[in-house]
Parts: sequence; C-alpha cells; structure tokens
Amino acid sequence: MELRELLAKRRMVRSFDGTPVESAWLSNLCAEALWAPTAGNSAGIRFHTIGPELIGGYFEVATDEEWRARSRRFEGLRRCGGVVLVTSRRTEYVARYGESDKRHSGLDDESNWPVPYWHTDAAMATMALLLLLEESGWQAALWGNFRREDEILRWARIVDQDLFATVLIGKADGNDVVSSSLTRTVPSRASRVSPVER
Ligand SMILES: Cc1cc2nc3c(=O)[nH]c(=O)nc-3n(C[C@H](O)[C@H](O)[C@H](O)COP(=O)(O)O)c2cc1C
Repeated sequence: MELRELLAKRRMVRSFDGTPVESAWLSNLCAEALWAPTAGNSAGIRFHTIGPELIGGYFEVATDEEWRARSRRFEGLRRCGGVVLVTSRRTEYVARYGESDKRHSGLDDESNWPVPYWHTDAAMATMALLLLLEESGWQAALWGNFRREDEILRWARIVDQDLFATVLIGKADGNDVVSSSLTRTVPSRASRVSPVER
C-alpha cells in the first residue's frame, strides 16, 4: 500500500477479535520501527512486547477493577493479540547532549530541554510502528501514559525507563465504540498548515 493510503487509512481500533500476534514477528516489526529518527543518534527508545499469554496480567495492572467494570471498551480491548510498551531512557539523551560535539547546546542539564527529545523520539518510533502494523494488516490503539506508570513498569520488570505509551494490537472485529474524541469539530487538516508571512 502507498504511504499516503496507509496514513489516511490508519485509525485507532479499540475492539479486537482475539487473533494472537506472533511474538517473534512483532519483535522484528518493532526493530524495523526503530529506523525512526533519533535525536543525536541517542537511540534511547525501547519497545517491550507483551505476548498473548501475558495480556490478562497487563490489563490487571494497567487498569483497575472499577474501570474494567464500567468501560464499554474493555471487552474489545482485552481481545487484543499483543501489546507493546514504548519507553524512553532520558538519561541517554542528557548524556549524549553532554558529549563534546553537542555540549554547546546546554542540554547536558535536563532542566534546559524546552522540548524533551526522548518524547519526540518515542513519538516518531511509535508512529513508525503504527504504520508498519497498518501495512501488515493489523490494527492498533494507542494508550497515552496517564495512569499506573510505576505499577506497569514494575510488573514488566523495566528499570531506568519512562513509559511513553502503550500500543494494543489486534485484528478489528468491527464492534468499536466510537471515540468521543472523533465527534469533536476540529479545523480541517489543510487549515492547520500555513506559510510564514512577514
Ligand atoms: C499521545 C496520544 C495519547 C492517546 N491516548 C489515548 C488513550 O489513552 N486512549 C485512547 O483510546 N486513545 C488515545 N489516543 C488516540 C486518539 O484518541 C486518536 O488518535 C484520535 O482520537 C484521532 O483518531 P485516529 O487516530 O483514529 O485518527 C491517543 C493518541 C495520542 C497521539
């Protein structure tokens, strides 16, 4: 599929049919996604794959009972066939920008980063993964990191890394509960692009 088509076709899917994702295949795809740009070649992004046998445990730690009971999406999401935790090692960015060819940036001090490149890199790698999944005939939902980060990292035995986001992967079963985000009226894509005029 053409890149243009892939970009337009990729949409978050939050209800899956239970098809498992093959773990070795997913690991390879994640490694391919890491062709994404990385600031200063810091290479501080990590993907951690969760195979079908651990998905139940992941949801138990990433959500709480009250949410699982009330969410209209939980049943569809829990039928995902694989999960990827996207994490970053911010210390590698700060160390890299303290090297002799980068030190002039002042970014060897973490408090000086106007835009933390570890988040930027993580977003780039995540988007690459979403497009590769789409190209491979899989669908995905992205969960931002806004709850239970510490518990998830501890459960996954990940140390010295921050959780950026979680990608839930599967085959769409067509039962998606439409996201309230999609009912918002937003400016057109074209209107969000403008030439600088002076
Ligand atoms: C940083 C980020 C965080 C997001 N977090 C969530 C989330 O926690 N739960 C969810 O269902 N969707 C989440 N989304 C998906 C957005 O809701 C979705 O991309 C948006 O509504 C546009 O829909 P589309 O991607 O299908 O075009 C997130 C997307 C981004 C980029």
